[in-house]
Amino acid sequence: PGRTVVAVDDSGTVLGTAKMNPNHMGGASHIASASFMVDPQYAGRGVGRALGEHVLAWARAEGYRAMQFNAVVETNTGAVALWESLGFQIMTTLPEGFLHPTKGYVGLHIMYQQL
Ligand SMILES: CC(C)(COP(=O)(O)OP(=O)(O)OC[C@H]1O[C@@H](n2cnc3c(N)ncnc32)[C@H](O)[C@@H]1OP(=O)(O)O)[C@@H](O)C(=O)NCCC(=O)NCCS
Repeated sequence: PGRTVVAVDDSGTVLGTAKMNPNHMGGASHIASASFMVDPQYAGRGVGRALGEHVLAWARAEGYRAMQFNAVVETNTGAVALWESLGFQIMTTLPEGFLHPTKGYVGLHIMYQQL
């Protein structure tokens, strides 16, 4: 039921990738999830936004009723701002949910939006 896409430039260079899938099975399978990775070399050029818009359009087209991100590290402020600008809200923050390699234990956001 899931899908993976890559973002490429005109020459075919892979700039980033996104994976989209149901967040759970069974009674919660109407909620989608997704994850993203942009090549740091190509960050800040709108690739992440394009991938985010793509997974939301996919989820709507597939009939999902919401999208949930399970683990957005609170210190990943660029990602948090991007997801908020695409309509996601921070539903809760798991205290010390993530062990950051340099910052130690930091919060982990669950972000969500109904479609
Ligand atoms: C998060 C990630 C997907 C963003 O991809 P990107 O291609 O750099 O993002 P974009 O160029 O589309 O930036 C879009 C928005 O992100 C935000 N943003 C990006 N970098 C930022 C930074 N350093 N500080 C603040 N905001 C930032 C801005 O709101 C920007 O808004 P704009 O479109 O109005 O300029 C990318 O940095 C990445 O792969 N990071 C590592 C993996 C990761 O964190 N994945 C997501 C886990 S939830």
